[in-house]
Amino acid sequence: MALSLQKFCMVVISVLVVFFPSPHFSLPHRLLSNKCPSHESEALLRFKEGLNDSDGFLSSWVNGTDCCTMWDGISCSNDANHVVSVSVISLQDVQGVIGESLCQIRFLKSLTINKVTGTTTVPPCLGNLPYIDSLNLSFNSLSGKIPSFVCLLTSLTHLDLSFNKFNGSIPFCLENLSSLTWLSLSNNQLSGSIPASLANISSLKWLELDHNLLSGSIPASLGSLSLLWDLSLGNNQLSGNIPDSLGNLSLLSGLSLLNNQLTGTIPPSFAQLSSLNRFYGSGNHFNETISSSSFPASLEYLYLSLNHQQVISETFFQNLTNLKFLYLSDCVLNISKTWIPSFQLTEISLESCKINREIPVWICTQFSVATLELVNNSLVGKIPSWLWETSSQLQHLNLSGNHLEGSLFSNASMLMQLERLDVSRNALSGHIPSIWSPKIQHLLLNDNLFNGSIPPSLGKLSLLEQLNLANNFLTGVIPPSLSECSFLQILNLANNNLEGSLPHEFSRLSKLYSLIVHSNNLRGSLPPSIANCSELQVLDVGNNSFGGEIPTFVGNLPKLRVLVMKDNNFTGSIPSKIGHLLNLQILLLSSNHISGSIPHTITSLQAMAIESQDGFILSTSQLSYALLYQDGLDMTLKGTNQHYPYILSTFTSIDLSNNELEGEVSSNFGNLKGLRLLNLSFNNLNGSIPNSFGEMSQLESLDLSRNNFSGQIPAELESLSYLASLNLSNNNLSGSIPQGQHMTDTFGESSYSGNANLWGCPLPKNCSWPQFATSPPFPINKEKKSNEYPWFQMAVGLSFGAAFGGIMALILIRISWRMKYFNKVDTILKFLFPWMKNLTL
Ligand SMILES: *[C@@H]1O[C@H](CO)[C@@H](O)[C@H](O)[C@H]1NC(C)=O
Ligand SMILES: *[C@@H]1O[C@H](CO)[C@@H](O)[C@H](O)[C@H]1NC(C)=O
Ligand SMILES: *[C@@H]1O[C@H](CO)[C@@H](O)[C@H](O)[C@H]1NC(C)=O
Ligand SMILES: *[C@@H]1O[C@H](CO)[C@@H](O)[C@H](O)[C@H]1NC(C)=O
Ligand SMILES: *[C@@H]1O[C@H](CO)[C@@H](O)[C@H](O)[C@H]1NC(C)=O
Ligand SMILES: *[C@@H]1O[C@H](CO)[C@@H](O)[C@H](O)[C@H]1NC(C)=O
Ligand SMILES: *[C@@H]1O[C@H](CO)[C@@H](O)[C@H](O)[C@H]1NC(C)=O
Ligand SMILES: *[C@@H]1O[C@H](CO)[C@@H](O)[C@H](O)[C@H]1NC(C)=O
Ligand SMILES: *[C@@H]1O[C@H](CO)[C@@H](O)[C@H](O)[C@H]1NC(C)=O
Ligand SMILES: *[C@@H]1O[C@H](CO)[C@@H](O)[C@H](O)[C@H]1NC(C)=O
Ligand SMILES: *[C@@H]1O[C@H](CO)[C@@H](O)[C@H](O)[C@H]1NC(C)=O
Ligand SMILES: *[C@@H]1O[C@H](CO)[C@@H](O)[C@H](O)[C@H]1NC(C)=O
Repeated sequence: MALSLQKFCMVVISVLVVFFPSPHFSLPHRLLSNKCPSHESEALLRFKEGLNDSDGFLSSWVNGTDCCTMWDGISCSNDANHVVSVSVISLQDVQGVIGESLCQIRFLKSLTINKVTGTTTVPPCLGNLPYIDSLNLSFNSLSGKIPSFVCLLTSLTHLDLSFNKFNGSIPFCLENLSSLTWLSLSNNQLSGSIPASLANISSLKWLELDHNLLSGSIPASLGSLSLLWDLSLGNNQLSGNIPDSLGNLSLLSGLSLLNNQLTGTIPPSFAQLSSLNRFYGSGNHFNETISSSSFPASLEYLYLSLNHQQVISETFFQNLTNLKFLYLSDCVLNISKTWIPSFQLTEISLESCKINREIPVWICTQFSVATLELVNNSLVGKIPSWLWETSSQLQHLNLSGNHLEGSLFSNASMLMQLERLDVSRNALSGHIPSIWSPKIQHLLLNDNLFNGSIPPSLGKLSLLEQLNLANNFLTGVIPPSLSECSFLQILNLANNNLEGSLPHEFSRLSKLYSLIVHSNNLRGSLPPSIANCSELQVLDVGNNSFGGEIPTFVGNLPKLRVLVMKDNNFTGSIPSKIGHLLNLQILLLSSNHISGSIPHTITSLQAMAIESQDGFILSTSQLSYALLYQDGLDMTLKGTNQHYPYILSTFTSIDLSNNELEGEVSSNFGNLKGLRLLNLSFNNLNGSIPNSFGEMSQLESLDLSRNNFSGQIPAELESLSYLASLNLSNNNLSGSIPQGQHMTDTFGESSYSGNANLWGCPLPKNCSWPQFATSPPFPINKEKKSNEYPWFQMAVGLSFGAAFGGIMALILIRISWRMKYFNKVDTILKFLFPWMKNLTL
């Protein structure tokens, strides 16, 4: 019985399929007549020929079959049997000019070409197609000016040219597209001002011009676009005040002005925007008081971060009863302790708002908060217990950079939805709780006063990606169970009092790219199995008591960029496999007991052989590691210990000092043309200083002191114009010091002393006054110099060596570039890796 019922159902379904064809059922199309006009299918086939379809996306486009019914991405009009819509996505354009033949599909109404790599132009003849109402060419590599033919497509209702490389200005002729409801030109490189005439496109509902280089002010005429629903002008260089007239956009629901240079205030007319739901105004220069009555009650999203010191009081929020997302920073929050807000927020971010007291109690009236960020507010006292109890929905909690104290006890485990916790840079103490939300991905407890041991139960946090416990007072061993966190990418346990060894189980951490355990009391040898962590880019085991031979496995970590093993008890010689580390930029092995000679293969460290050019464009891969290595490095430059917070992508350094290295330095050492700091001091190296050192044109610090180098100082060193620090003292060098200005004026006696047979200025021996009448024969006081230019202290490895004439000018340019670079790297990285902004800086 059941069986026949099933059969009956199947018959009914088949009948339905035949009589009510729908795209969800595949019909036996071949039985139907071919609806596709042959010249149109020919045109499509020629279009396909210009595309590289190695993945078979267009495999259904077969000559002789009906393009209307059989071909993916094609549809035809029902009545007249013409192709009206063509859509191709994710292919590769072989010629760079896409779709000439499409111009023959005369009745085309909708054309979508997305993510077709290699496409740099579209043929102007598309402008002859009279019926096109939707043109979507987003996510290609189209460049040059916006083609003027688009202005001929007067039937267009939908024009999307976003995510291309268009430059030049927005063409005025777009105003002819009088039926347009959607216009997106976002994410290009468009410059110039926004044409006031766009306001003539009165049907516009969506206008997206964000992420370009547009400047000038926002045209007041946009206020007449009475149907406008969404206006996105963020991430440009717009300046001036927001025009009052925007208050006329009564249907406006979303307005983004993020990251421009707008000044003044939010016009009071905005209170009339009765549909406004989302206002993004962060990152501008609003320098007049933003009035409490400037926003309509409909508002749910309010982003006003990074404006100038706005004072925000309770009345500001009085009418904002629907607010759900509040992002303020760099403001002054003037709110009483007993305030009970009229809204229920889901996301709260108040950064650098000078709260200066306990965590505000009004937050406990917000029952469904998922994100709570109260960074850098000088918050004091303990984390109140209501925070753990009332905020069960909390996913992101960021209290970093305050003065919070007390312990976390086991309270933290009450937040069972927690994915990110950042309480770094406070004064929290006590033990690290052993129970956490199983959903936690980022756990940042660094820079506090936590003590006790690392709970082995952290290994149960199976989603953990980042664990930062650095700069606390943790004791005990590193629990091997951490190796069970199979998604772990960043592990930073630096600067605690941890002991024992590095667990060999860490070889299971296949995603780990940053392992930092420096400045603890760890001992034993490095487990060879670490070689299985093939993603490792940063390995820092410095300042511990590790011993044993320098493991050869380090040569098997192809992605390694930073290798720090300094201040340990490593013995043996430097493995020649080190030359396999083509990405290595920082190699610090100083203060161990390493013997043997420096392997010749060191000259094949490719990343140090690239001469970097100031002002070059940073590639993603070059940038990616800079943030990985959060703790920076302590490096001695000019005798002063400096802490570099980031390791910039161009930064390169080799420090093998204070070991027992012997033999000669490879004559090819100068291959490392991109090297900035080289320290080989306090070893037993002999032979002559290779002439090729003169080729390391980026070198800023060279320390060869306390070795047995003999022979003359190569005259080639004179050409190292960025050299700021040189120490050749205490060797067996002989002959005269090359008497160019740089070598004699920049460096003092102590750079050369302790070489019995060396003579010439600045050594007293055979240094004659008259020759140097125009410049002082003795070292200029460098302390004084660096005080005159305090920014000298800030740039990485900067040059204050050749302080005269044209070279000085060069250096100044270089320094100002570096400062910019320094400030920018951070922003760029945060942009590229949004989640990375959670790392402590
Ligand atoms: C087509 O694309 C594949 C992979 O995307 C590539 O390997 C092949 O070289 C390309 N062919 C041409 C002709 O560009
Ligand atoms: C499609 O097939 C027709 C008839 O067989 C032929 O004339 C035409 O050249 C073919 N077109 C392409 C692009 O192969
Ligand atoms: C636009 O980009 C092209 C290269 O694609 C360049 O030649 C041209 O100078 C740029 N124009 C403007 C105005 O930036
Ligand atoms: C288009 O806009 C400009 C500037 O706003 C204006 O002067 C002109 O009259 C408008 N044209 C039409 C047809 O509305
Ligand atoms: C638009 O706004 C301006 C300034 O707020 C106002 O003077 C004008 O009357 C408004 N126009 C309309 C059509 O509402
Ligand atoms: C705000 O900044 C603009 C542009 O810098 C300036 O013209 C204006 O006077 C400033 N307003 C106030 C109140 O400081
Ligand atoms: C709140 O809205 C009322 C009615 O629209 C208005 O009178 C009052 O000024 C508003 N208050 C604030 C602080 O914006
Ligand atoms: C922290 O806030 C103060 C103002 O309260 C500000 O001056 C400082 O720059 C902020 N620090 C950071 C790191 O944002
Ligand atoms: C390293 O990985 C390989 C293959 O993934 C595995 O066979 C080997 O046992 C691992 N070695 C260690 C020491 O974990
Ligand atoms: C080179 O290393 C030695 C020993 O580690 C150290 O004392 C010296 O300051 C370093 N030189 C420079 C220029 O950093
Ligand atoms: C050079 O190194 C020696 C140690 O060998 C040190 O005493 C001297 O101060 C250093 N000179 C400079 C200029 O760094
Ligand atoms: C906490 O906020 C600070 C400042 O905005 C940021 O740098 C850090 O990455 C945030 N932490 C997390 C885990 O999101």
